[in-house]
Amino acid sequence: MSTDRWTISTQLDVSYEIRETPSLLDLDNPTLADVLTSDSQGGTKLVIVDRAVARLYGARLERYLKEYDVPHRLLELLGDEGRKTMGQVLQVISALNEVGTLRASDAPVAIGGGVVLDVVGLAASLYRRGIPHTRVPTTLLSLVDVSVAAKTGVNFQGFRNRIGSYSPPPLTLVDPAFLSTVSTRQISNGGGEIFKMGLIKDPALFALLENGGPALVANKFQSPEGAEAIRRAIAGMIDELRNNLWEKDLRRAVDYGHSFSPLVEMRHVQQLLHGEAVALDCLLSAFIAHGRGYLNHHEVDRIAATATGLGLPTWHPGFADTDLLMQALADTMRHRNGNQNLPVVESIGRATFLNDVSAEEIADAAHRMKRLGEHQESELVQRGTNR
Ligand SMILES: NC(=O)c1ccc[n+]([C@@H]2O[C@H](COP(=O)([O-])OP(=O)(O)OC[C@H]3O[C@@H](n4cnc5c(N)ncnc54)[C@H](O)[C@@H]3O)[C@@H](O)[C@H]2O)c1
Repeated sequence: MSTDRWTISTQLDVSYEIRETPSLLDLDNPTLADVLTSDSQGGTKLVIVDRAVARLYGARLERYLKEYDVPHRLLELLGDEGRKTMGQVLQVISALNEVGTLRASDAPVAIGGGVVLDVVGLAASLYRRGIPHTRVPTTLLSLVDVSVAAKTGVNFQGFRNRIGSYSPPPLTLVDPAFLSTVSTRQISNGGGEIFKMGLIKDPALFALLENGGPALVANKFQSPEGAEAIRRAIAGMIDELRNNLWEKDLRRAVDYGHSFSPLVEMRHVQQLLHGEAVALDCLLSAFIAHGRGYLNHHEVDRIAATATGLGLPTWHPGFADTDLLMQALADTMRHRNGNQNLPVVESIGRATFLNDVSAEEIADAAHRMKRLGEHQESELVQRGTNR
């Protein structure tokens, strides 16, 4: 008996914009109102806001929406990694359903850190099988990284981003002024992703961080150097993603710092923030690269000192657990189709990939990293004693 066979083949055009928009909530800046009203069919806009942001900027946001006469409903979501759950996704979907958001009009807006943006991104990709939305990042990490991302996701059963989708929103509005209220630790956390970007592809960005890290963190990237660091990080990320948006090529330099850290971060979710775990992974990978004859000793020291200058840790006991590191790499390899594809820094500003890193090399790199951490700690204690 003969059987028929049909194939459907089509192409998906994807284009999305990341637009710098200073003073987003100023009454004389119509950008956000234009975005909210341009696709209006007279429905209610769902405006989803990180609760911490709502506390700080809620009154200004309400005044702005009133001034521009935007019918809206505010939904507050919780930030922080432990809140990146399907529960919050379903909360967003319920609210979209209640306000009656249409398929392609009256699109919602998400304002918050990476957790809220990832949660809303996933909800928007599921509701009515996918609706557009606008995102407004409010932390340093979300400004330089999530703002560019095509991915959404939530954590599931102890794994980071185990449930997610590829669905970039058409527009992201970037206003670095939101950073002025972000805690110093969260600024350093965002510094972790900028640090990564400098290491893999932008020596000038690394120099900005190396020469001015403490000042950048102290003034929350509000200086001209801070603005330049943010711009370079965003541009670098776009450059890396542009030709590999769907991650068909599993050798991704932007995965630097993201090979061992995901599982360590999840196991120590109360202690480690994402950017901190990334910075630790960057340093572990720098020691692995050093063992392979890429980075010299001085360069590894510069990398560690730059992390310290940004207020990032250079050691955490999670990285002493070689079994956990191997388990993390095994999980990462499943994500990279069975290959290590481990990005390492060849020289500051240039990355390469390794595929044959052994457990012994990892244990040795972790040991060196620990010794450096102990050395830095004793120096700090000594300086404290001498003071
Ligand atoms: N989609 C992607 O490709 C992608 C890329 C990078 C990171 N991420 C995700 O981003 C998340 C981390 O994002 P994050 O670091 O922004 O964390 P976060 O969203 O948890 O925000 C950190 C904290 O800052 C608070 N906050 C937010 N904006 C503030 C402001 N302006 N002032 C004061 N407080 C504010 C939040 O309430 C939260 O307590 C991770 O889950 C990570 O997986 C996703």
